[in-house]
Amino acid sequence: MSAIDWHSNIAESFDSGYQRSARFAERLRVLGALIEQHLPDGGTFLDAGCGSGVFSLIAARRAAHVTGFDGSADMIALARAKPLPNVQAQVSFEVAELGEIAKFGPGEYDVVFSSSVLEYVEDLRNGLNAHAAMLRSGGVLIVSMPNGDSLYRLAERTVFEAIGRPRYLRYVRHMPRADELAQLVRRAGLQQLSTATFGAAPLLGPAMRALGMARKSDTLTVIAARRGGGLRLKYEPPSQGPGGGWCHINLHERYGGTLPKKLEFSQISARPRHPAQDARILEAYKKFEATMKAPCT
Ligand SMILES: C[S@@+](CC[C@H](N)C(=O)[O-])C[C@H]1O[C@@H](n2cnc3c(N)ncnc32)[C@H](O)[C@@H]1O
Repeated sequence: MSAIDWHSNIAESFDSGYQRSARFAERLRVLGALIEQHLPDGGTFLDAGCGSGVFSLIAARRAAHVTGFDGSADMIALARAKPLPNVQAQVSFEVAELGEIAKFGPGEYDVVFSSSVLEYVEDLRNGLNAHAAMLRSGGVLIVSMPNGDSLYRLAERTVFEAIGRPRYLRYVRHMPRADELAQLVRRAGLQQLSTATFGAAPLLGPAMRALGMARKSDTLTVIAARRGGGLRLKYEPPSQGPGGGWCHINLHERYGGTLPKKLEFSQISARPRHPAQDARILEAYKKFEATMKAPCT
């Protein structure tokens, strides 16, 4: 049986968890707030491994286009059966596997969303790269996975190795620590914006949270990370050369982790800025570029 078959078998009970379980309610609240924060009005949203579609429907309140896909036809049937919020968004749910993600249009999305899915793929690094490639410049990946720092997850794994329960662990291939996930996200060319844990562990979870140990007990991690936005720069010609002009570059793709903080934060908006702000960014960029000896061409 595959992870997809497993989820097909539990589709209805998984979906009803969102109505009856406090842990699912927290998941809705935390991930829903990140969607609200990063999805622009009229934006595009891709929900990869959307399950029964609950997060797609949150996104549909403000997006213009929402696409949810999942390998499980049973999950997609539940998603399609849900009433759409009273909005103009175009929402579509399709049966497709993560390996087919590129057919939904690389470079087209303001938000790519992945909740509790990538732990099931064979190659996490390739999976994250493929998700990152779906973002438009300035778009944000929201990715949530089991928290590999969690002592509860460690105990769960130990019990699984002894008695084969909980059964879902048969299908889980990855449980990265928050710093490992952050590193993979950065290697996918994204700029990490935030990391949080959520999903209080049963029994000792609330007490560990009260002691400030949420990261060691919460069951889930979520990272939001942006695909570097473009920076439009006016450049000067060498004194005798042809005229200057504009170039549009993606600083993150070009320089990755070597970017100075000032540029890292100033270049992320693809939207127009105040000219004085642009001038400051340009100044910082010129100084930086001189040290990198990589002309803007
Ligand atoms: C734990 S559920 C999460 C569903 C939804 N994202 C949510 O948070 O409510 C995991 C989902 O991933 C889907 N899935 C697992 N592996 C997949 C794959 N290779 N391709 C597409 N979907 C997959 C399952 O069918 C299932 O619906």
